[in-house]
Amino acid sequence: MAVSSLFDVEGKVYVITGSTSGIGLMMARGLVEAGATVVVTSRKPQACADVVAELSQIGSCLAIPSDVSSEDGCRALRDAVAERFPDGIHALVNNAANTWGAPLAEHDTKSWNRVFDLNVGGSFHCSKFFRPLLDAASTPDDPSRIVNFSSVTAFAVPEDETYSYTASKAALLHLTKHLARRLAPKITVNCIVPGAFPSRMMKAAFEHRADEIAASAPMQRAGRQDDAVGALIYLTSRASSWVTGEHLVVDGGTVNCVTSGSSD
Ligand SMILES: NC(=O)c1ccc[n+]([C@@H]2O[C@H](COP(=O)([O-])OP(=O)(O)OC[C@H]3O[C@@H](n4cnc5c(N)ncnc54)[C@H](OP(=O)(O)O)[C@@H]3O)[C@@H](O)[C@H]2O)c1
Repeated sequence: MAVSSLFDVEGKVYVITGSTSGIGLMMARGLVEAGATVVVTSRKPQACADVVAELSQIGSCLAIPSDVSSEDGCRALRDAVAERFPDGIHALVNNAANTWGAPLAEHDTKSWNRVFDLNVGGSFHCSKFFRPLLDAASTPDDPSRIVNFSSVTAFAVPEDETYSYTASKAALLHLTKHLARRLAPKITVNCIVPGAFPSRMMKAAFEHRADEIAASAPMQRAGRQDDAVGALIYLTSRASSWVTGEHLVVDGGTVNCVTSGSSD
């Protein structure tokens, strides 16, 4: 097959959870521009409809709102997608997440579960329920894809007291490997590890210290749409057909290029 089509995603069907804001919206916009069909989904029907109204000017997308923090919500999303795409989908992007920050003593079971139910549970249950639809669209040369979302905070501990969030993002790295083992050869399972991107979750951080965030990365800037879309296109195109159980850090060098402080 031609090298020129290695990164071609035209005609593929994607489900991107949490695609009404931040990185999810960036990826939805980029994939629609690249000729894919994107199922835009988040909890809020109006937010989904607004994104679809915007992106339909560029290409193909549709809104299917769902709350993927529960097993029932993940199943409902799969059922609605299966009705629209009975022949299968090519990629599931488990991007939706929430966070919680509070002093250690205030981390109760409810707040802990709220984060894990969406970040880990939602990614797991969606992967489980979408498997038959992903299997159906898979070919030996171009398997279907699951892309999970971790965070650089799974590697480098932040100052913020967001224990359940960082633990959930570390869990996703291992869940990626375990699912990759189970779902091969029809589905690859990989993980994007973002650094700082402007988004709703990062609104306060960017409002108060955008310059500091940019300066902390060796590449001297925050993430932007091309960075998220480029990583996702690689992990969902023929270019990565033999890559599974892997994570890709997209952070301008923040995590991997730390200095040792001396040459000893
Ligand atoms: N931005 C960063 O700097 C950064 C850094 C590291 C990792 N990440 C990771 O990258 C991913 C995207 O983060 P982001 O910052 O772009 O997020 P964001 O702007 O806060 O957007 C989160 C999205 O998830 C949806 N969502 C929230 N709860 C949901 C639920 N229960 N069911 C379905 N959808 C739900 C939200 O829409 P509704 O509220 O309408 O449901 C929204 O569309 C996350 O996995 C995050 O952990 C981000």
